[in-house]
Amino acid sequence: MFEPFSLAAPAKINLALHVLGRRADGYHELDSIVAFASVGDRLTFTPASAFDVTAEGPFAAALPAASGNIITRAYAAAQGIASGRGKSLPPVAVHLVKNLPVASGIGGGSSNAAAALRGFLKVAGIEELDDHIMDVALQLGADVPVCLFGKPCRMRGVGERIEALAPFTRRRALLVNPLIEVSTPAVFGQLGLERGQSLGKAIADVTDPACWRNDLALPAIGVAPVIGDVLGVLEKLPGVSRCFMSGSGATCVALLDDDVETSFLQQGWWSVLTTIG
Ligand code: C5P
Repeated sequence: MFEPFSLAAPAKINLALHVLGRRADGYHELDSIVAFASVGDRLTFTPASAFDVTAEGPFAAALPAASGNIITRAYAAAQGIASGRGKSLPPVAVHLVKNLPVASGIGGGSSNAAAALRGFLKVAGIEELDDHIMDVALQLGADVPVCLFGKPCRMRGVGERIEALAPFTRRRALLVNPLIEVSTPAVFGQLGLERGQSLGKAIADVTDPACWRNDLALPAIGVAPVIGDVLGVLEKLPGVSRCFMSGSGATCVALLDDDVETSFLQQGWWSVLTTIG
């Protein structure tokens, strides 16, 4: 038995996402700067007689079975880790409060999987992350290790090489999503790279936003042109120091010098004021 507890599953923001090329296995080699927002989903872990996942919140209805699945897969992964260390993982009921839009470039599913894995490992009495746990996380999804890391970092490879960055001063930010779900494989596919083909250059300076880009922005606009409209609106906002798309979209981010009025945003778009760091 354990006392019920909750963990945050914050939105993951790619401040830069350079695609260096396509590997022989079909995955894309990335160089990314990742930070986390104060907004996110929340998972509560409670002792139960059988493993169970329930969900509520603005995006619970939009949850594909996949989101429940990734938590179920995280449970199986945690059971494997625990049994390999002579520990056991009792049944857990997980309740997910889904505040973030799904398939939206801010790591909803990956962040849920990371928080789930962390929670299940905690229940099994494993609190320290190590290379083996990071490897298992990578099997759950390319962005799961970075979400497990949970602090500003540079992420390379397909997501397995993570290096802490000096903490950023937390920045105010507006996240806007036009509520179009964008398929990550479809966006990568738009790049049209052959296996083994190179694309962009690595991040020259992780401290200089002037050299950061998101190589998935144009392909994502190709898949969902409304992303271009979102970026167009954000660019014109007063007090915006930089705006960009996160991940494979469709969520776009405006870094703000000041809070802004959001009532001008198109009805039907999701938006939230938050901080990133
Ligand atoms: O690992 P994850 O399930 O998050 O990735 C979803 C899909 O995105 C992969 O199946 C792959 O098609 C594509 N992807 C990629 N290169 C990456 C990450 C993801 O091509 N570095």
